[in-house]
Amino acid sequence: MERTTLVQHIRQQEKANPGATGEFSGLMNEVMVAAKIISLQVNSAGIGEDIFGLTGKINIQGEEVKKLDEFSDITFTKIIGQSGTVCAITSEEKDEPYIIPPEDHPGKYIFMMDPLDGSSNIDVNVNIGTIFSIYRKKSLGTDVTDEDILQKGVEQIAAGYIVYGSSTIFVYTSGQGVHGFTLDPTLGEFFLSHPDLAIPEQGSTYSTNEGNWGVWEEAQKDLVAYLKEDDSSTGRPYKLRYIGSLVADFHRTLLKGGLFMYPKDSKSPKGKLRFSFEAAPLAFIVEQAGGKASTGVQRVLEITPTGIHDRLPLFIGSKKDVEMAEERLATPVKKGSWFKWLNS
Ligand code: AHG
Ligand code: MN
Ligand code: MN
Repeated sequence: MERTTLVQHIRQQEKANPGATGEFSGLMNEVMVAAKIISLQVNSAGIGEDIFGLTGKINIQGEEVKKLDEFSDITFTKIIGQSGTVCAITSEEKDEPYIIPPEDHPGKYIFMMDPLDGSSNIDVNVNIGTIFSIYRKKSLGTDVTDEDILQKGVEQIAAGYIVYGSSTIFVYTSGQGVHGFTLDPTLGEFFLSHPDLAIPEQGSTYSTNEGNWGVWEEAQKDLVAYLKEDDSSTGRPYKLRYIGSLVADFHRTLLKGGLFMYPKDSKSPKGKLRFSFEAAPLAFIVEQAGGKASTGVQRVLEITPTGIHDRLPLFIGSKKDVEMAEERLATPVKKGSWFKWLNS
């Protein structure tokens, strides 16, 4: 059987781009190498190096850094940083952008990552992943400036994620559709398994941390209560699925359709998820697959961040489901009015 490898696919996509120099393929190949290393570590966690548990450090987000968070950050930074294709790397785990020193031959791309997403699931054998995003350096000269680091979401030239799950899958877009590759662990090679992914226009599942109900705004409560109402003509009630690893919840949503939500709340008034490392790359992917990503009031890709660690509310998934969420959130609700949807 003729099988397309990830390397072949990236090269073919780059060829479709007149004037391509191969630098982009070079960068993507290094992302793939780093992903294979993390995948191996994840699969052997518990028997290989001591990779479970905490490092004892707190990151810029005020969160405890797990050993695998740190291992992934260091692995990606080393491999991508020495690839000769990027001039800066930003990461959820780094306070400031890492600027590639001249001896490591800076290239024309900026690489942004959540090196390990879903860290609360590391120690319990539940899917985790890596999310990345690639921009082109915009400013003239050799210095990396805010113009390069804080670009609007639509300026991304590629984005992707890797889920370390029951199998390891690598999903990416470079603006020509969304393609998924599954790691064959015997060969150590990613093969095309999900060409031209398209998200269903409407799903039957919602995904959110409903334990936050008490800190949600009334409009959010109303939206979720509405999804629970029994009304077969609109496909309700929706099923609830929540893993707690954005990358895994997103992957399911992409394949099956539905709505993932992490709204703002009184604990996280700006939202919890990060624009550069989580929302923007997944927004690029979902739009390429025919879906939508919104803050509830604005298209995610229209945002220009003010800092690399900016957070936002996120509603992402099937086109009709995200539109329904936007509409409901825009409708004022009286305190407790959501109760009517629960058919008590
Ligand atoms: P990270 O592990 O990179 O810090 O991200 C965790 C994120 C995301 O993966 C997930 O959707 C969300 O946090 C879960 O948050 P709650 O535990 O608040 O539901
Ligand atoms: Mn994350
Ligand atoms: Mn993370």
